[in-house]
Amino acid sequence: MAEAGYPGVGRVLVVIPTYNEADNLGVIVDRLRRAVPSVDVLVADDNSPDGTGALADRLAAEDTRIHVLHRAGKQGLGAAYVAGFEWAREHGYDAVVEMDADGSHAPEELPRLLDALREADAVLGSRWVEGGTVKNWPAHRLLLSRGGNLYTRLVLGIPLRDATGGYRAYRLAVLDKIDVSSVSSQGYCFQVDLAWRAVREGLRVVEVPITFVERERGASKMSPAIIGEALVRVAGWGLRARTASLRRVMLDR
Ligand code: GDD
Ligand code: MN
Repeated sequence: MAEAGYPGVGRVLVVIPTYNEADNLGVIVDRLRRAVPSVDVLVADDNSPDGTGALADRLAAEDTRIHVLHRAGKQGLGAAYVAGFEWAREHGYDAVVEMDADGSHAPEELPRLLDALREADAVLGSRWVEGGTVKNWPAHRLLLSRGGNLYTRLVLGIPLRDATGGYRAYRLAVLDKIDVSSVSSQGYCFQVDLAWRAVREGLRVVEVPITFVERERGASKMSPAIIGEALVRVAGWGLRARTASLRRVMLDR
């Protein structure tokens, strides 16, 4: 009997969080279904005012591999992913993928992430390793991403080149180990939160190069509040880790 899902990985659910992505969702889902026909799709929509949720329902009605999770309102990227991962667990998937709806994460590169997952617990699509790149980002976004990753590396002391990126694959069992349902990071620091937990648990985390292409339609939801949350939370985790290791050193003496 042929193995269900993606060879060597199993049943894969690609979770696509959406807030006002009606101009993008159809295109990305179509590209994904063509690029990797063996994966399922879950759109996690926060009741977008532009009708993204209704569009997702129409796509799901035509394709049994497409599913929709309707959420009450805009509660942030982190909460949408936690709910999507929970759905994956309830429905017996082996792995989950994070993918933006706006075309920045090429579905055609997904096989590279899933192939790497055969030998890893978590695979991070990385813009800042050899072979990775960003297209069409203005200088301030490049600076924010480079700066954010430098800050993360220094404060947390982890070797990842791109801990803030949002194109990833995780084995479902990993999400239990890192207690994903307790993650309260709302904005994009959700990504750092998960990477940090995975590294601290000693899991096999690998980075594979991706080409991130800035969206052509619609607007980014990045905001000063999202950046602020990341700065404060990362500092808190770094501080806690340092005091914990200091305490260990003192007790050992
Ligand atoms: N459900 C839901 N709720 N979806 C959301 C929310 C929310 O509150 N906020 C954003 N999204 C969705 C968007 O609709 C899109 O599909 C995806 O999350 C990414 O949002 P963008 O606003 O396009 O992010 P970006 O391009 O500025 O940021 C990218 O880079 C960040 C920094 O590296 C993303 O890849 C982020 O994940 C990444 O952290
Ligand atoms: Mn984007």
